[in-house]
Amino acid sequence: MSLIACLPGDGIGPEVLDQAVRVLEHLPVEVEVRRLPFGGAAIDAYGDPLPPETLEACRAARAVLLGAVGGPRWDGASVRPEQGLLGLRKALDVYANLRPAKQGNIDLVVVRELVGGLYFGARGTREDGTVFDTCEYHPAQVERLARRGFELARTRGHSLVSVDKANVLDTSRLWRRTVDAVALDYPGVAVRHALVDSFAMELVLNPEAIDVVVTENMFGDILSDIAAAVTGGLGLAASASLGDGGPGIFEPVHGSAPDIAGSGRANPAAMLRSLALLLEHALGRDDLAAAVSDAVDDTLTSHPTSDLGGSTSTAAFGDAVLASLTRRLALKEEPWTPVPS
Ligand code: NAD
Ligand code: IPM
Ligand code: MN
Repeated sequence: MSLIACLPGDGIGPEVLDQAVRVLEHLPVEVEVRRLPFGGAAIDAYGDPLPPETLEACRAARAVLLGAVGGPRWDGASVRPEQGLLGLRKALDVYANLRPAKQGNIDLVVVRELVGGLYFGARGTREDGTVFDTCEYHPAQVERLARRGFELARTRGHSLVSVDKANVLDTSRLWRRTVDAVALDYPGVAVRHALVDSFAMELVLNPEAIDVVVTENMFGDILSDIAAAVTGGLGLAASASLGDGGPGIFEPVHGSAPDIAGSGRANPAAMLRSLALLLEHALGRDDLAAAVSDAVDDTLTSHPTSDLGGSTSTAAFGDAVLASLTRRLALKEEPWTPVPS
């Protein structure tokens, strides 16, 4: 029995996570689903966005399935929901954040460094009132991320672009040198470097030509929302955050969407695609991952949500995915009878 730590969080987080849990519990896998307090909801209940028992359960789990955190309610406070998310990523050392973006002729994946850079460097306030955040990278942090990117490129289009700001930043020059050194081990992968400003334009104008992107934490945060925008929007964009062997975190790229929370309009596709990534990476069930992805694709066509110009509610989208999955899995050679929900 594999423990799946489920962290609903805030805003639309619980709404989309509920649909993923319904689908997970419908699948022929032996899992224990445990919901745990996290984010703003955990600040309200325990004064801590990542309570010790939540972290302990995540460490002991096979994988973490996470909705989203944050919201205007906690924006002015000294303890923020986002600190829980960053703390969890750091604690599990999930340094490689895979953010695939696929639609039509576009098929790329942003491999974002997730536990270093500007998010985790020295920060503070000087006596004169100056506030600072610093971008810091150790060569080993860059090397392991680059290696992930090359390994992935080897299984895909054999092409990798490393994105940095090497015309200005020392950390970017370290990044570039390190990527070049790792590239020597992957002669079959075509590598190039791009500066983040013009690459942002390239991502909008010519995304079809891009395969694997490796980049530091902050650039990856921004570029992955652009990649989502050119492939259908944030309602569709999934992610897998992986370390070396421990539990991964599987969560949508989007946030808690306070503007639509509670309205039943959230598109759960990004969350469901994150579940597919969990099935693939954490449970080794590529067959079920493909079935879930295909069922989501079917449903996006047959039952579009309002972000895609339709009117299907979050729960009705989940119903349609379950129906499609049931049909798909019943087609398998060994018939499987779904558990009544
Ligand atoms: P957001 O991603 O929450 O929303 C941006 C826009 O996309 C909104 O208009 C929203 O309605 C729409 N959107 C997002 N997901 C959608 C979905 N599944 N279906 C339909 N529409 C969707 O970004 P934001 O508004 O800048 O941030 C809101 C809060 O979320 C902030 O507190 C931020 O810190 C937090 N956040 C959390 C995560 C996370 O938990 N991983 C990620 C990003 C932002
Ligand atoms: C994301 C989010 C987070 C990030 C925030 C909420 C800390 O934007 O997962 O993309 O910047 O990593
Ligand atoms: Mn983001």
